[in-house]
Amino acid sequence: MAQQPYIVGNWKMNGSRAMLAEARAIDRGAHRVTTVQVALAPPFPLIALLAEEASAIGVGGQDCHTAIKGAHTGDVSAAMLADIGAGFVIVGHSERRRDHDETDALVREKAQAALAAGIGVIVCVGETLAERDGGHAETVVGRQVTGSLPLGDAAIEAALHGNLSIAYEPVWAIGTGRVAAVADVIAMHAAIGARVTDLLGEAGSKVRILYGGSVNGDNAAELLAAPGVTGALVGGASLAAETFLAIVGAAIKANS
Ligand code: 13P
Repeated sequence: MAQQPYIVGNWKMNGSRAMLAEARAIDRGAHRVTTVQVALAPPFPLIALLAEEASAIGVGGQDCHTAIKGAHTGDVSAAMLADIGAGFVIVGHSERRRDHDETDALVREKAQAALAAGIGVIVCVGETLAERDGGHAETVVGRQVTGSLPLGDAAIEAALHGNLSIAYEPVWAIGTGRVAAVADVIAMHAAIGARVTDLLGEAGSKVRILYGGSVNGDNAAELLAAPGVTGALVGGASLAAETFLAIVGAAIKANS
């Protein structure tokens, strides 16, 4: 059976109590949607508030620590996310790799911690512009997938249940309005898919591969219709219900 597209909004460090009105509107819009899985990852302070209200969308975090608890001031564990109603967490976003020097090994540990806490994981990968221009995009992304993806029985189990996804987000396409060429997206998603199957075996084919980077209501239809693109991780356009639901609408069409 074809996988259900997964449309995830990453609010990054944006949002407020007042902005939950947009999240509520997204939740209401998602009520009518049966063929696409919709989720939002607001910043930590809003997760519990949204998780308590949302009924049609998934709610998740944007990062977690590798440990369950302990002396890690300012950090939040996957178990804490699970406890307040989060159903998934994004790990290894390029902004965290850049701002917090996160390595592939650390990202994998975070992903394993999330699976151990019983929540889903979206592992982010993506090359910089210099890496793409240098002809190294597939090598770099392949290395990130090999180094960051959770492995073992927990990962296979999560993959089989649709709880393990990868987001391919070329760094140069994030927040820039520049979208990767669809042919390049198709090639990269195929390469990632092959790598994931090498790592997880048959279960690897159940890992959804989302595209991210300047996705909006205008370009979503073409991207989501591309072979191997099973969803989108959306930044800026997820902050308003109107623009995010336009992407959800494109996913519904692409999947019909
Ligand atoms: P934009 O959609 O704002 O380019 O952000 C993409 C992203 O980084 C989502 O995680």
